[in-house]
Amino acid sequence: MDLTNKRIAVYVTGGIAVYKVANLVRGLIKAGAEVQVAMTQAATEFVTPLTFATLTRKPVLTDLFNQDQPDHVAHIHLADWSNLAVIAPATANLIGKLANGIADDFVSTALLATIAPKLIVPAMNEHMWFNPATQRNLTQLKADGYTVMEPDNGFLAEGYTGVGRFPETTAIMAEVVQQFGPQRLSGQNVVVTAGGTQEPIDPVRYIGNRSSGKMGYAVAQAAVTMGAKVILISTRPELPVPAGLHKIIYVETAAQLQGTVSSVFEGADVVVMAAAVADFKPDQYVTHKIKKKPHPTDMQLTLNQTPDILAMLGQQKTHQFLIGFAAETEDLLQNAQTKLTAKKVDLLVANDVSQADRGFGADQNAVTLLRPTAAPETLALADKSVIATQILERVANLLA
Ligand SMILES: Cc1cc2nc3c(=O)[nH]c(=O)nc-3n(C[C@H](O)[C@H](O)[C@H](O)COP(=O)(O)O)c2cc1C
Repeated sequence: MDLTNKRIAVYVTGGIAVYKVANLVRGLIKAGAEVQVAMTQAATEFVTPLTFATLTRKPVLTDLFNQDQPDHVAHIHLADWSNLAVIAPATANLIGKLANGIADDFVSTALLATIAPKLIVPAMNEHMWFNPATQRNLTQLKADGYTVMEPDNGFLAEGYTGVGRFPETTAIMAEVVQQFGPQRLSGQNVVVTAGGTQEPIDPVRYIGNRSSGKMGYAVAQAAVTMGAKVILISTRPELPVPAGLHKIIYVETAAQLQGTVSSVFEGADVVVMAAAVADFKPDQYVTHKIKKKPHPTDMQLTLNQTPDILAMLGQQKTHQFLIGFAAETEDLLQNAQTKLTAKKVDLLVANDVSQADRGFGADQNAVTLLRPTAAPETLALADKSVIATQILERVANLLA
């Protein structure tokens, strides 16, 4: 996700979700945006301006009549400076004011004065949300050209479940990116596999690997952000589901992964095999828990090779762009090059999983990209979300 050179005004109004906006502001800054925060008086009751001033390294604007900078009128300056206005959380009150052109504080006045695209992220009690006045005001704002995000359904601050929750930061970030124009993978069907497979020995034991699924999830999220229709096939139901997915399918074993990826392969344009598929599985599944034997009896477990899913897809592909991952602990490039050729993949992402700060389980990765007809390209150590975007940028270039 790249928001370099984007100037975003974040207008914070007085709802309980204000504390979540600190995370959003961090995310926008991390993605390269320049952010200026303005708050309503009510918003400052929930979180002090100091939090946002520290994150943005700029004073937070709250007072319409503050004369600190006599060379310009602050609300008009912010209105003209920003190329996107994000109102988060947007209270029912502010939604009502905007729908009726009321400008009686810094936030509402700057918003009336800005011609930048406006993204509204409402959050409120379910009954406030469904109140006919709120719904009428939202209809008006949509007609006026505002983009309104739907609040999530979930556990509310009131202690019960309902509609009105502030959406996840990743979903808002994806919406922000969309506001800045055409996306490079729009119209592409992308299938991503993520996590390590588990091959059961008996009802309580399995053979697994250390793949956390984080890289695959980052690729899925980046593909959504770039406009793709994404199916994620995952072995990790405990991870938060990336926002904006077309579908998520959970699997456990290599055989299930093979069946699922085969069923969606035909309709895919890009297939990213980030899952770490077990190479071996127990010859037999024992339907009851295997009992310990008296010491010192050893136990033998016979393993069979699992099908090579990547090679199978390489054989079957017609129009699909196939991306494989090679996790190696030695002779990284040599092994990856062999895999690239043998399995007929279009792009191989090779990563060294012998180092603790990258690869399996870590939040960061450093990889080398191998292509059949180009020199290897190294992507320096960075967050997996950054690496994911860099990989998909290359894919978008090759598809274009
Ligand atoms: C504890 C508390 C939580 C509130 N949470 C919300 C909320 O989530 N959404 C909302 O629309 N209003 C909420 N309100 C009501 C607003 O704060 C109130 O309508 C206020 O006038 C909004 O002012 P503003 O729109 O200028 O920020 C809450 C009020 C209190 C006291």
